Amino acid sequence: MAEEKRAVTMDKLVNLCKTRGIIFPGSEIYGGMGNTWDYGPVGVEMKNNIKRAWWKRFVQESENSYGVDAAILMNSKVWEASGHTSSFSDPKMDCRECKSRHRADNLIEAHSKGTVNPDLMTNEEMEAYIQEHHVCCPICGKFNWTGIRTFNLMFETSRGVTDESQNKIYLRPETAQGEFVNFMNVQRTTRAKVPFGIAQVGKAFRNEITPGNFIFRTIEFEQMEHQWFCKEGTDSSYYNEFKEKAWKFLVDLGFNEEHLRFKDHDKLAHYAKQACDIQYLFPMGWSELNGIHNRTDYDLTRHQEYSGKTMQYVDPVTGERYIPYVIEYSIGADRLMLAVLSEAYDEEALEEGDVRNVLHLHPAIAAYKAAVLPLQKNLADKAQEIYKKLCKRFPVTYDAAGSIGKRYRRQDEIGTPFCITIDFDTLEDNTVTVRDRDSMEQIRLGADGLAEYIAKKTEF
Ligand code: GAP
Repeated sequence: MAEEKRAVTMDKLVNLCKTRGIIFPGSEIYGGMGNTWDYGPVGVEMKNNIKRAWWKRFVQESENSYGVDAAILMNSKVWEASGHTSSFSDPKMDCRECKSRHRADNLIEAHSKGTVNPDLMTNEEMEAYIQEHHVCCPICGKFNWTGIRTFNLMFETSRGVTDESQNKIYLRPETAQGEFVNFMNVQRTTRAKVPFGIAQVGKAFRNEITPGNFIFRTIEFEQMEHQWFCKEGTDSSYYNEFKEKAWKFLVDLGFNEEHLRFKDHDKLAHYAKQACDIQYLFPMGWSELNGIHNRTDYDLTRHQEYSGKTMQYVDPVTGERYIPYVIEYSIGADRLMLAVLSEAYDEEALEEGDVRNVLHLHPAIAAYKAAVLPLQKNLADKAQEIYKKLCKRFPVTYDAAGSIGKRYRRQDEIGTPFCITIDFDTLEDNTVTVRDRDSMEQIRLGADGLAEYIAKKTEF
């Protein structure tokens, strides 16, 4: 358990993101839109880098793993088969006084300070707890609740020109089903042998009753999901393997292991054999960062049943037919972005009472790999020449405004790993000063070797 005092708070992060072009409130000029967020010029680069790092690790470098990019709008039968139309819901309660809406499980968790697990309770038990403990509305402080009603989290829309119920479709609430319905397509076209994986990165939508904590829980978000199809009997060892892989990915991104922990699910979903989360110590406390689930053969069996199409894999050696088990590893790109920012944020005391705000991001995640800074305006031609050359290899920014100290600080705040200063010696001998974000040390390098130096230092 981490005891150290961290500089990061949610307010500081939200403020940094807004002022430095990382993340803006959605539809801000119209007063916002219920916890939606827009990534700005710096944020979009960071989030793309997070997705790239994940893809590199779980597709590119993972033997027998393949990517898909499935449609967001899927045949409604997909959601019947997956169980989302019947049971993807939260227990909601309304405050009759201030009309605010809450999740009963969240009320209990907050009231009991995490000592009671509402996942193990029925709706009736949750209502009884709230009555017995006189749990008041966190907004107005009154105690006047409606009963619990279940609330399906899927966003509905309709297809075609008529508004009949058979045209009802949904925005996908998870990307996983796009991987399951393409199991046979991927297996046939790649000739993959079980065990193999299908991965996808994409948007998902949930009509969350209580979105919040910045980009932690939103109604529109991106997921990075990986399904590993394996034979029954091998599933538990792959489940453990994915726990390790998921952990290592976070550590390799620079997470302090004291800020991470596994949390087994107390109550398993009806289809799950094993399930756990990796929790991260976010500024608001320990919360789920990603999930790892042993989903058995539930998903493929259900899709076989509802579609009438076989989901059986035929072993090419033995001829045995079976529906594979699935180990699912699922992580939100936005939630990981929040964790990455929380982990990287620091305020460092410098000499003379000065404080440096810095994001110690893994260089592969930083928006810009380097900033090119001409020491004086009349060095712009040379600086532009170097900048344009570097831009061909990776995102680089250029800043000629203000003192060099201020320019360093601006780059520190968004986590740019290297600042390259062009001075008069550069005109003479084609060398530049390279300043390291973390150590603030400076070295002199030949401009011709810069791209290679930075590329090597910023790899994931
Ligand atoms: N296919 C399994 C699945 O969707 P989940 O635990 O509901 O499982 C997986 O979601 C991950 O997606 C979570 O661990 C979290 O990182 C992210 N996630 C889920 N709901 C989210 C939301 N409303 N906003 C942001 N991220 C979310």
